[in-house]
Amino acid sequence: MKTQSQSRSLLVVSPRAAFVEIITEVFPKSDNNRVKSSTESFTAMNGRAVDLVFGQDVVIIETDPDDENEVNALRDLLSHRDDDTVFLAMTKSDVSITKARKLRDIGVDEVLPLSIDGDGLKAVVDEQIKRRRTAAQSTHTGPAALGKIIPVTQARGGAGATTVAVNLACALAADRSSMFHKAERNRVVMLDFDLQFGNANVFLDLEDNGGFLQLIESAEEPDDHFMVSTLQKHGQGVDVLCAPLPLVPLQSLRADLVETMIALLKRRYDYIVIDLPRAVVDWVEPVVKQASQLLLVADTSVPCVRQARRLIDLYREENVGLPVEIVINRDQKPFIKSEHMREAEKVLETRLQHWLPDNPKLARSAVNLGRPIVELKPRSDLSKAFARMAAEVFAKEQIKRKTS
Ligand SMILES: Nc1ncnc2c1ncn2[C@@H]1O[C@H](COP(=O)(O)OP(=O)(O)O)[C@@H](O)[C@H]1O
Ligand SMILES: [Mg+2]
Repeated sequence: MKTQSQSRSLLVVSPRAAFVEIITEVFPKSDNNRVKSSTESFTAMNGRAVDLVFGQDVVIIETDPDDENEVNALRDLLSHRDDDTVFLAMTKSDVSITKARKLRDIGVDEVLPLSIDGDGLKAVVDEQIKRRRTAAQSTHTGPAALGKIIPVTQARGGAGATTVAVNLACALAADRSSMFHKAERNRVVMLDFDLQFGNANVFLDLEDNGGFLQLIESAEEPDDHFMVSTLQKHGQGVDVLCAPLPLVPLQSLRADLVETMIALLKRRYDYIVIDLPRAVVDWVEPVVKQASQLLLVADTSVPCVRQARRLIDLYREENVGLPVEIVINRDQKPFIKSEHMREAEKVLETRLQHWLPDNPKLARSAVNLGRPIVELKPRSDLSKAFARMAAEVFAKEQIKRKTS
């Protein structure tokens, strides 16, 4: 990998637009900086601040240590802090040592006077980033991530791939703890690789944060921090990479970039669920190559089954042993398979493994509200089917783990 010492993601928080502008000039885009800003105070942002600071290398806050509400809001935020993020407070130059110390006590890494010049600020930022990263490397003691790649694709438009990707990701991330058993939660990320028509964000009520486009446009290979800064946290415990809002050419994503993204995410996440585009493009290759299984959403109609067969053949060219699981959407699992279902299994040379019942009313309100089905109506037939699907995916890993 290339050296990444210069790449920084920053969030600037100040009520003054002029302040934001000066900081943005100190950390220009041409020098590989990604600067976001907010002119809202932490008090006004309330709980939303956690999402905003998530994954940033540095948060620079212009603050008045005499504003008790703001200091309290900052303290709350810092109690949830992501260990990888550096927090710098900038205050007027005549602030007392006691006040400055108070900011340090609540977790601010450094308190700087507003009179500092650009080079000085840059030096402090780089030194703090370096310190954080070294500390993070030496104290990372959590269990290794499973790093399972699960692409989801469709045998016809509207088959339900996005519905499956979104709800499977949420079901995999669900808390499996019970009264008697404390379970580790799966770390799950969902990538919307349906570059041009991706709408997973709508299903999850998220706005594109521009992260995917930054990845595509960056001249540098992304590093871990850059990758994480493009993700958004969803309430159901899933981190999400939204498809870019502006329409970009399919070819603007490159196979080498996808490979790097996946390599970075595999180290952090147990499950990487990917909504694939319907198009056949070369950058799908690294996804398919590394997939631990592929979910193909279809129905049992003849044209759909035929298309599914063609897709399976295509994907197996990249990954000969790839387990492809068929998801039959909008159909109950029958007690006795009909002739055409048996025929479909013969054509596909696999069992029709997952079945999702038709529930247009629930599917529609989930999309309209921007809430995953499994969260909106956890007891519904559809949610139970997703929970079963997630349990099967999860069980497979447990078995593999025990036997390896
Ligand atoms: N099991 C289901 N029952 C009823 N409606 C569904 C079901 N699965 C998906 N839908 C609806 O069908 C539409 C297309 O689904 P979507 O997941 O966007 O398909 P794709 O991503 O394959 O194009 C959406 O409006 C979705 O809410
Ligand atoms: Mg879709």
